[in-house]
Amino acid sequence: MQKLQQLYEGKAKKVYATEDPNVVIVSYKDDATAFNGQKKGTITGKGAINNRMTNNLMRRLEAAGVPTHYIQELNDRETAVKKVSIIPLEVIVRNISAGSFAKRYGVAEGIVFDQPTFEFSYKNDDLGDPLLNTSHALALRLATREEIDLIHTYTMKVNDLLKGFLKEIGIDLVDFKLEFGKTADGQIVLADEISPDTCRLWDEKTHEKLDKDRFRRDMGGAEEAYEEVMRRLMGEQ
Ligand code: TMP
Ligand code: ASP
Repeated sequence: MQKLQQLYEGKAKKVYATEDPNVVIVSYKDDATAFNGQKKGTITGKGAINNRMTNNLMRRLEAAGVPTHYIQELNDRETAVKKVSIIPLEVIVRNISAGSFAKRYGVAEGIVFDQPTFEFSYKNDDLGDPLLNTSHALALRLATREEIDLIHTYTMKVNDLLKGFLKEIGIDLVDFKLEFGKTADGQIVLADEISPDTCRLWDEKTHEKLDKDRFRRDMGGAEEAYEEVMRRLMGEQ
């Protein structure tokens, strides 16, 4: 598959056209940002890990009945995916309190919820990705009610499946963010990535953070944490 012109560069990935108008190539970078791009850095090796981890998980989700944009891993950093228009909603699920939830509601991190929470942010960097509810998303015409219902159904299924995949390797899925896209023929599919950039992952025994919070919070050991997740998931260094 031939990489043609660059269509887009985001904070963590670049997207290239291919000869097929319905297929693009995603290329993962080692660049890391936090706080809406105010903090910038590099997590060496992150691009390859996020690419391979996302693909591993997307293949398993697809096999379990969640439609995804995944087509084919091309190399360490690059993957062919279906071209979609991204629905500008960041879909966040939380199983355990952490991050902005703990801050917003004034609670400690680490409270295990009786049931997962489900929330949207409006994917809009200029506005700082503000929290929004379904009626706001409908008012802004970001998606239809049917699309939101489908996104909710897929997301809850992804949570159940991911929690299971990660439990097998001794990791608690604290929270995560998904993005969905619409293909040329109007199908809603899971897009973007599933990685330590977009999930909070804690070791189930030690509660050690194995995700991007190590970078966000200047804890050190981000590279090692990403490698550890990858090693447990794929049995590799
Ligand atoms: P939060 O606690 O900061 O709202 O983050 C919730 C989850 O969403 C966490 O797993 C990190 C992920 N996330 C992203 O993937 N991108 C973002 O821009 C933000 C703010 C969070
Ligand atoms: N990736 C986001 C940014 O730079 C935020 C984050 O993941 O914390 O803004």
